[in-house]
Amino acid sequence: MPGAVHESVLDAIGATPLIRLRRLTEGLAPRIYLKAEWQNAGGSVKDRAALAMIRAAEASGDLRPGGVVVEGTSGNTGIGLALVGGFLGYRTVIVVPDTTAAEKIAALRAYGAEVVPTPGGLTREDPRHVNNLAARLAAETPGGWLADQYGNPANPQAHRDTTAPEIWEQTGGRVTCLVAGIGTGGTLSGTGAALKELGPVRVVGVDPETSAYGGGDGSPYYVEAIGHYRHPDTVDDPWPANWDRAVADEVVRVDDRTTMLTARHLAREEGLLLGGSSATAVAGALRVARDLGPDDVVVVIAPDSGRAYLSKYFDDGWLRRLGFLTEADGQGPLVGELPLLEVPVVRASWTVGRARAALGELPGPAPVARDREGPAAPSEILGAVTAGALEGVADDDPVRDHATAQPPSVGAGEGIETARERLGDAGAAWVVRDGRVAGLVTRAALGLPESLAPAD
Ligand SMILES: Cc1ncc(COP(=O)(O)O)c(C=O)c1O
Repeated sequence: MPGAVHESVLDAIGATPLIRLRRLTEGLAPRIYLKAEWQNAGGSVKDRAALAMIRAAEASGDLRPGGVVVEGTSGNTGIGLALVGGFLGYRTVIVVPDTTAAEKIAALRAYGAEVVPTPGGLTREDPRHVNNLAARLAAETPGGWLADQYGNPANPQAHRDTTAPEIWEQTGGRVTCLVAGIGTGGTLSGTGAALKELGPVRVVGVDPETSAYGGGDGSPYYVEAIGHYRHPDTVDDPWPANWDRAVADEVVRVDDRTTMLTARHLAREEGLLLGGSSATAVAGALRVARDLGPDDVVVVIAPDSGRAYLSKYFDDGWLRRLGFLTEADGQGPLVGELPLLEVPVVRASWTVGRARAALGELPGPAPVARDREGPAAPSEILGAVTAGALEGVADDDPVRDHATAQPPSVGAGEGIETARERLGDAGAAWVVRDGRVAGLVTRAALGLPESLAPAD
């Protein structure tokens, strides 16, 4: 079959193929297909929402000739809006958190978007938060129109109108299960609702384990573009209007390590280099498929390619540093095999007295992290504190005022040589496993001399 002929780039959005998984599905009864959304013109599923939102705004008169498209987003929605906006002659302004990968910012600029960086990791109430800043810029810019992917009904509608009927037609009406991640919720809510109107289709949302959508505590996770992170100091944390929880029959939770390993398997065994949200969705689908039969047809939405994540999920150094890859690599013993000291997490709101009690005799620094339960992700660590530094300090002082710079950190999957180098003159390092500080490793445990007294 020859490829399609499109009269403009806008026609190259949608009508993506289904690709059957053949290797990771061994021993599973149903057929599992990926909906290859990375084949959209701008490289992701979000092209559909971007095109639909712009068209709806033109139709309603909210976006007029000479108008300015504004949105807060760290990635694919911005690219979709910049692509469609550029083609249709609109200026596009995209507000991005400064944690956004340099490649993504470069891609936005390449499509002609004006990029406005703002700090990441802010509370929802902070006026500099991506969404708040984008809303303000849209209101202040003459002709400005805020795309608002989280609340704009044209986003799920795009999937009702295109993604769902495509899947129905491509499977000859035999699809029995839809699996997708949840960012704004537009893809799952729109596609899921429309498929359910067409036939008995089970709709499964897939969520990073600690994301709030699936019942996690909202603490950080390492998959971009899906899930719901909850800043501990955020007061009002509404879920997006476009995430219609009633559409999903269930939400399956997938831990980061499983996602990372699934991404590697997809690339190496299926020949499919896909992003983290695709890998999470595939991992969820493989789990759901265990309970399905040979007549079942599962369609998994694969939102984007892995090209934008080569320096993360597909980089062994990154995986080892965060303790996601912990198998031996022939470079000698790994840090994770050494005896580690348990390290308490001191919370930012604690007093010195409480911190002192938690630290005990710990011969090294403990993290001072945002207030929540459980081990701390590096992105929520605000500083470090040692028992020694608190000596003589009043018990009711806020411990936060006594936090110092963080020590080096090493991954449980890194070699001991690497750890020794990373340590430098420091007395100890934090060890990261599965993206959380899991313990403390001392100089002695690494076979280094106890102190580096100047030789004289
Ligand atoms: C790579 C990727 N995966 C998944 C999603 C989630 O899609 P939705 O916002 O429709 O829930 C997004 C949204 O930005 C995305 O960029």
